Amino acid sequence: MAPFSYWLKLWLIHASILLLASVRQSWIPRTNPCDVTVKNNSIVFHCGKRSLKEIPDGITSNATELELQENKITNISKDAFRGLSELTILNLNWVNKYGKVFITEDNIYDAFVTFDTKDPLVSDWVHNQLRVQLEECGETVLPICLEERDWTPGTPFIDSLSHSIRQSRKTIFVLTEAYVQSGIFKMAAYLAHQRLLDENMDVIVLLLLEPVLQHSQFLRLRRRLCGHSVLEWPKNPLAEHWFWQSLRNAIIMDNQAMYNKLYTRYFTTM
Ligand SMILES: *[C@@H]1O[C@H](CO)[C@@H](O)[C@H](O)[C@H]1NC(C)=O
Ligand SMILES: *[C@@H]1O[C@H](CO)[C@@H](O)[C@H](O)[C@H]1NC(C)=O
Ligand SMILES: *[C@@H]1O[C@H](CO)[C@@H](O)[C@H](O)[C@H]1NC(C)=O
Repeated sequence: MAPFSYWLKLWLIHASILLLASVRQSWIPRTNPCDVTVKNNSIVFHCGKRSLKEIPDGITSNATELELQENKITNISKDAFRGLSELTILNLNWVNKYGKVFITEDNIYDAFVTFDTKDPLVSDWVHNQLRVQLEECGETVLPICLEERDWTPGTPFIDSLSHSIRQSRKTIFVLTEAYVQSGIFKMAAYLAHQRLLDENMDVIVLLLLEPVLQHSQFLRLRRRLCGHSVLEWPKNPLAEHWFWQSLRNAIIMDNQAMYNKLYTRYFTTM
């Protein structure tokens, strides 16, 4: 097997290329087929009767009304309206004029958590702190996928790992010294990277339980381009509340959107 630094470099190169590709695309303004009206405090997206086959991109999070009636939308993802926190009216009448509508589940879990399962301290932290925080505390429940709890016994390891990464919005890597040396980390990192290549989806969230990989280029690049997806467990217990909030945000937020923002800022302040 090639040394780990080789994989990191490969990953870094691919990630940078894709990053630039996705940034390039974001310069081209998206054409949103809807008319938008703003009156008083309401922002209305009129997307009805436009023969749309899918829910259009570019519905801004401040939208208060969204009209999608009389279109040809057959599939609506469970996550389709996520982030539209101001919405008060959603019109889906005859959203598929010619037939049924399927509610699809793109992601079963919000996050798959991969960590050193052999280290009892880390396991304990994941099950009793991280899991409790994400699944039992906070305003929104974020279901996570855990190897010990959610994997089907008897399924080959690599299949389960691949499945978990594909069925989760994000993959959280709980990084410790022993874990970053392990083959499991390399494999999981490779599979998560594969989603970037195949689907242009950046699903990686790095959670440094210990200060590891401090000299890695990959970590440095990630911090610069997508800083919100790199989190460090705070030494000060008072900062833990903030940490959990940041982790929730990192799970919910779209990493791509963050690069775009960053680049927009970069190019408009030049
Ligand atoms: C704007 O809001 C005010 C007060 O909430 C209301 O009286 C008025 O009718 C609204 N105007 C429109 C055009 O909706
Ligand atoms: C709604 O949000 C978009 C994007 O964030 C922004 O460009 C627009 O000005 C906002 N509209 C209003 C009326 O606040
Ligand atoms: C809708 O979802 C079904 C499965 O749930 C899939 O077979 C089909 O290709 C999807 N259609 C579109 C237009 O995405």
